[in-house]
Order: sequence, then C-alpha cells, then structure tokens
Amino acid sequence: MNGLWDIHFEVFCRKGGPTVLKVAFFDTKIYDKPSFEHYGGMHDIAFRFLETKLNEDSVELAKGSDAVCVFVNDTVNAAVIEKLYEYGVKLIALRSAGYNNVDVQAAFGKVHVVHVPAYSPYAVAEHAMALLLTSVRRIHKAYNRTREFNFTLTGLTGFDLHGKTVGVVGTGKIGRIFIDICRGFGMHVIAYDRYPAVDSGIEYVSLEELFERSDIISLHCPLTAETQHMIDASAIGKMKKGVIIVNTSRGGLIDAEALLDGIKARRIGAACLDVYEEEADIFFEDRSGHIMDDETLSRLISMPNVIVTSHQAFLTEEALDGIASTTVKNMISCFENDGVCENELCYRCGNIEQCSKERKKRCF
Ligand code: NAI
Repeated sequence: MNGLWDIHFEVFCRKGGPTVLKVAFFDTKIYDKPSFEHYGGMHDIAFRFLETKLNEDSVELAKGSDAVCVFVNDTVNAAVIEKLYEYGVKLIALRSAGYNNVDVQAAFGKVHVVHVPAYSPYAVAEHAMALLLTSVRRIHKAYNRTREFNFTLTGLTGFDLHGKTVGVVGTGKIGRIFIDICRGFGMHVIAYDRYPAVDSGIEYVSLEELFERSDIISLHCPLTAETQHMIDASAIGKMKKGVIIVNTSRGGLIDAEALLDGIKARRIGAACLDVYEEEADIFFEDRSGHIMDDETLSRLISMPNVIVTSHQAFLTEEALDGIASTTVKNMISCFENDGVCENELCYRCGNIEQCSKERKKRCF
C-alpha cells in the first residue's frame, strides 16, 4: 500500500509542501483521472485511484488516507463511516451534487462531508432535453434504421413539444435551466417545489395538479425520505394518459415496478431514464456479456418507448472540469486549520446545505 502511495506522491506532489494529503479515490473511471490529475497536481495531494466502490467490504482500502473521494453509487452508510472514523479519515469528499448515498447524520461529529453543489447544471438539463427529444422524435429508432439503410418512416411519427405542458418537479439549479430550455421550445411550464422560488415567474402548482395537467413530467429534486417513490402507482393513476416521464435526478424517485405497470397498461406514453433505483451494480459497467438479473430493468429496456442512459447526464467536459476543480478546492479548504470547510454538508443545523458554521467555520 505504501508503494502505491509513493508512486502517486511522485506524480502529484509538485508543490513541495511539508505535508501531503492522501486521498483514496473510490469508483474511479477512466474519465475521472485527467481532470483530477490536473487539479490535484496543483496541490500537495496524492490520489490513490481505486476501481472498487466504497462499501463495507472495501472500506479497509481507505486505511492510511486523510480523505476519501466518492461518487453516486458508493455506499457511505453508518457502518462505513464508523470504519472511516476508526481509520482516522477526516473527510468524505463527494464528487457529485446529490448526497443521498451518504449518511450525513452518522458522519456528524466524526467525518466532515463535502459535495459539489454545482458544476454544470447545463449538462444535466440539456441531457434531460436530449432524452425527451430523442423519445418524441423517435431518433433512437431512426438512427438504428438508417445504419441498416432502412429509410422508411413507418412508426416514426412524433409530436411537437411546442404548446405542450411540462411539469418540472424541483426548481433548483438544474430544474430552472430545464425550464428555460422548455420555454425556448414554446412549451407551457408548471412546477412543483417543496420550497418554491419567490418572484421567479414560475407557475407553481401542487404535486397533484402537476400530475394531472402535465403532458411531460421531468424530475429535478433530490432523493430524500419524502421524495422516495414520489412516482408510484397512485401518482401514475393521476397522470394524463400518454404522459412522458423524464428522470435525470435519482432512480429512487420512481417506483420502477409501478412505472413498468403503467407502461404495460399504456397509461405512460414514454419514459426517459438516466437513473434507476437499483443502478448501483449495473450502471457504469459493461454488462453486455452477462445475463441481466434485474428483470424490471430488462423489461423496461425492452420497451420501445423507454430510453435508458446509464447516469451520464453529468458527463460533459465542462462538468468533469468543474467537479475536479471544486472537489480539490473543497479538500484543500477542509484541511486548512483556519479556513471555512467549503461546501460542507452539515447535519447539525437541520438545514444541511446552509450550515451557519459560526465559530469554527465548519460544522464541528
Ligand atoms: P438543487 O439543490 O439546486 O435543486 C433541488 C430542488 O429540489 C430545490 O429547489 C429544492 O427546493 C427542491 N426540493 C427539495 N425537496 C423537494 C421535495 N420534497 N419536492 C420537490 N422539490 C424538492 O439541485 P440541482 O443541482 O438542481 O440537482 C437536482 C438533482 O439532480 C440532484 O439532487 C441530483 O440528484 C440530480 N443530479 C443528477 C445528475 C446526473 O448525472 N443524472 C447530476 C447532478 C445532479
């Protein structure tokens, strides 16, 4: 293990400071490295890039590190946090905006948690629109046909987005950009948010009214105990027949079985999914040579009106650059004795994103 650290020390310790910040980087993908190497190289940071996800079985790999860097499908539950604390790990640095996979309550008082509140909200909002356009204009089918020199149009009839009502759930950074994009298409936008933005010019309605009026529903709120399965059989029962559901937020917002039933019953016109509740061991991996055990996902993918991308909405050059630059800044700030721990998620305040951080400029 020391050998690995030494190798990375050689690569990244360019600043020549007295101490090196050792970071175990879990669930590394090939596209993560260039931007983290770039920004890590500007500081005394030694990354240990690990392909494995962080969970109770792999947490031992964090031994000897000051921080762990994790992504959306790493499991940072109370048991993992206890081990990290035991190993003296001081920081969990999420390289994502969403943090539903981290038990922030269990981390309080033990390990600081930071995230990247915004990198490129455009990346996700534009992907949501890309999925929607692909679906309504049958681009996925046309692409496959023309590759085989089949130039027929039968079955490719779409519909105009112009004039349709889109219901946006969650009007934060991504939701607002998606709203702007939809307005550019001449769509009528209604929205639901637990905390509506005042003076935003957005037409807020209740969730129930949004379900009833929308031709298209796009989800942009976080996954919490409250939002888990917000799209279930009962919600689907209230929606317009033929509704299109777009989810680029978190899989757990949708009860996938209920979605499948809605599609089979022809109640749901189409589903565009960048996330899936049980994606953790499937998405980001090449499973093409394997039998797919997840029957719900198999069935969804087999439907002509379902498009699945594997949690790639964030994946633009601009977003990767923003993620790495902010994550490295977060790490540096949290290890500086007198600095604010930037973008810290604090359980204590009850308002975990707007911690007052009075005395110590950090949550504990
Ligand atoms: P944000 O924090 O700016 O906005 C979230 C909005 O949801 C806020 O306006 C908040 O008031 C609202 N909200 C909170 N609880 C709610 C509830 N119970 N019902 C309705 N609305 C509620 O977050 P941002 O940056 O817009 O991201 C939104 C979500 O997108 C993230 O939580 C994350 O899960 C997902 N995401 C997905 C990515 C992907 O690659 N597929 C990449 C980045 C984010």
